[in-house]
Amino acid sequence: MDIKENIEKIREDFPILKREMSGHPLVYLDNCATTLKPKKMIDAVVHYYTYLGANAHRGDYEMSAQVDYAYENARKTTQEFIHARRPEEIVFTSGSTESLNILAMAITNQWLHEGDVVLSTVAEHASSVLPWIEAGKSKNVKIEYIPLDEKGRVTIENFKKALHDKVKIVALAQVSNVLGYEAPVKEICRIAHERGIKVVVDGAQSVAHLPVDVQELDCDFFCFSGHKMCGPTGIGVLYGKFDLLEALTPVYFGGESNARFNKCGKVSLKKTPLKYESGTQPIEGALGMAAAMKYINTIGKEQIHQYEIELKDYFLEKIKGVGKVKIYNEDAHSGIITFNVYDDGKLIFPQDVASFLNTKGIAVRSGEHCAKLLGDVLKVPGTCRASVYFYNTFEEIDKFVDALKEASFETCLDIFF
Ligand code: ALA
Repeated sequence: MDIKENIEKIREDFPILKREMSGHPLVYLDNCATTLKPKKMIDAVVHYYTYLGANAHRGDYEMSAQVDYAYENARKTTQEFIHARRPEEIVFTSGSTESLNILAMAITNQWLHEGDVVLSTVAEHASSVLPWIEAGKSKNVKIEYIPLDEKGRVTIENFKKALHDKVKIVALAQVSNVLGYEAPVKEICRIAHERGIKVVVDGAQSVAHLPVDVQELDCDFFCFSGHKMCGPTGIGVLYGKFDLLEALTPVYFGGESNARFNKCGKVSLKKTPLKYESGTQPIEGALGMAAAMKYINTIGKEQIHQYEIELKDYFLEKIKGVGKVKIYNEDAHSGIITFNVYDDGKLIFPQDVASFLNTKGIAVRSGEHCAKLLGDVLKVPGTCRASVYFYNTFEEIDKFVDALKEASFETCLDIFF
């Protein structure tokens, strides 16, 4: 779809875009934190609660069978969305964080030994690092970091330098949630596999914005959340190559995941993916996420990516010459703009800038963006982050730039008094 030509129609699909914030039309530039929801997705969730209602994989009656069908269809839609080989490679979880935690625990328990190393980067979101640190404590598994280049990017050269015989897992984001740089995941997987290393990819910030083909990347695992791609909160995906998911033992146990168990503690688990889906799943979440994927497909991933870059380039052009705005990732090929505002050479606290933008109806995120190790690289206590999506407009960027031009110690602090 030509996004520019259809932008009015697209915006009509998002009821929340009609609301105001701080007395101004909402300018939502916090799409890395979560995206807004199209009516089609909201309808899918409401449809489940209004007309389907039953549990999945539990009942022997018509309504329940309809839920089974819809739930497994959602798995199929997800498989196609990321080009997985088969639907069984899609495990529904509560989100990227749960997916990454399951992997860190299961892999550390089963595949890692004392002295082994998980290789990551300091640009990671906490969810891509902390689960490995925690899981590794019991076995003395260490985490090491691929040094970033001077701009904060992961390079193949540095990746190769960081490799050694103890590295068994590489865990990193395809797109950094702070700087928006895309890591060379395909090449990383190729090099890692030559050494028998498995690669776990955090796709939370990529899957809604770029065409993702897990077979082409050849990553072993790929995790993402529904809410960052127009879907509901509380639903996400753990993709894994079928044989690897079959080889791992889940970390949660309960109803549905087991085929049978007895009093002596003998348990037989079902096959992947059901063995990972203990307990009643967020069924409406899976259906809503599938509706969101279908909706995104009507817009087109290539077109979304291209449009985001155009919005960012437009911003960079308009902000040129506004010396007080320092941008940390001008050349990142994504819709993420990470910046700080200075007044007379002094940093205005990012939270104060974000609060000032709020008074104009503009939503951005400020702080460390859950990537607390990156502060040492950026050498600032925090940043502001604007992140665009396909429903943002060039007019919104104009408003954003005008607001930034107004930002100063006086205007930013005035709002508190
Ligand atoms: N991970 C989300 C972000 O980057 C919450 O804002």
